Amino acid sequence: MRLLFTIAIHLFGLCIAVASAGPFDKMERAPANWCGPVFNPNYRFPAKFVTSPEPWAAISFRKEPERYLRALLHYTLEGQDRAHWRLQHNTVRDWYHVPWLGPGANGREFIHGLTRAPDLQPGTLSPSQTACRQNWALAFYNQSGGAVLGRIWGHGNRDPDLSALPFPPGTVAVKLVFTSANSSDDPGLAGAPELVANIHADTRSNLNECAPAIGSNGKPAARKPHTLRLILFDIAVREQRASYKTGWVFGSFRYDGNVPGDNAWDKLVPMGLMWGNDPAVSDTGEKPRQSIVFKGYETLGRGGRMNGIVDDRASACSSCHMAAQWPSVAPMTAPVPWSEARCWFRNVDARYPFGFPPGQKTGCGDPSALGKLTALDFSLQLTIALRNWSLEKLKHRTTARSKLGSLKRLANGNLTANGLTVAPLRQ
Ligand code: HEC
Repeated sequence: MRLLFTIAIHLFGLCIAVASAGPFDKMERAPANWCGPVFNPNYRFPAKFVTSPEPWAAISFRKEPERYLRALLHYTLEGQDRAHWRLQHNTVRDWYHVPWLGPGANGREFIHGLTRAPDLQPGTLSPSQTACRQNWALAFYNQSGGAVLGRIWGHGNRDPDLSALPFPPGTVAVKLVFTSANSSDDPGLAGAPELVANIHADTRSNLNECAPAIGSNGKPAARKPHTLRLILFDIAVREQRASYKTGWVFGSFRYDGNVPGDNAWDKLVPMGLMWGNDPAVSDTGEKPRQSIVFKGYETLGRGGRMNGIVDDRASACSSCHMAAQWPSVAPMTAPVPWSEARCWFRNVDARYPFGFPPGQKTGCGDPSALGKLTALDFSLQLTIALRNWSLEKLKHRTTARSKLGSLKRLANGNLTANGLTVAPLRQ
């Protein structure tokens, strides 16, 4: 079954692109005269779990973090179509997209399936970056992850089934972040791999401001094809050896054009990794022990924890991802006071939900959360997808019963599941 197909007919110079995402998603359509590439998601999930070699498994992420990260990077790049990221073209192993990331102002664009990520505010990359720059991301899961996604979504014609979670050890998720910044914003971006994406059109008079995703009419803002450059390469691995902490290792690479050589893909520099949130490290300057951050990148995450360049400085990779739960009642980013922020820096086992944030119900650690919330095993794409799916289900009505609970669309547009407000995760 092909869920999305593209027929481009080159007839008298006329291109007709037909795109359909089927029951799995609602996707931005390519304009009728578009002759370029069109995103084709891979939702052909494996029917069963297959264990395949994990080249990083023999390497200690604590003792040899760089070697561990490089083994993972090699695994994620091997056989990929690095020009267009068509996962179906991988000649070595299969990778899969998460369904239902099409809708919404930041939803998947039609050219390469990128979703909008947080912007780079002026001055983030260097003092010469005077304009706000957009970032757009592309993520996918390996076979073990794909098998779970397949069980959650079935053939797309029934309600999502969350009993398929958690992801098994060996699951790998990847996220590539492409930016509209260029080498005059940051000389390190010179020679970075490029990708064209349909991003929000820049109509700003004040370049300090970032192009809004929502227009002044309240509708998603207009988009326009634009060339982006690879800036970040994030990897998350379900690790048996980290199961006494969160069960995941998060690591990241940054593209650095200053690295000598001809191959751009050899210029991804490891920034570090984390396997726990360091609950005992507050904001008093103590060094984290469950993050290893390489020189030059120590200030990206809260309290020196591991984090990406485009991510919120008050957060850290696994802290933000731990908020993945259904319904998503907690924001991703911790508040400023440590007394409350500590809730985001616990090490919550993947089987248990994050729970209610401070200020809601009886707050962080409220045991009633266990009966009301389901852990989404650190998958934020899945969290966004379930909200999109629910909103689509409520398109022509205000209430619906589903496997995700009793869904309701309120007059103000908010979504509730079993009476709990589902927070839209602002990326
Ligand atoms: C402040 C929140 C935040 C932080 C910090 C963060 N992420 Fe994410 N991450 C997200 C969101 C939101 C998504 C889903 C975005 C999308 O694709 O639409 C995501 C998606 C991902 C994915 C795809 C799988 C999934 O969970 O959806 C990977 C892999 C990933 N991030 C790795 C990392 C790594 C590695 C770091 C640290 C270097 C990191 N992230 C830091 C918010 C965050």
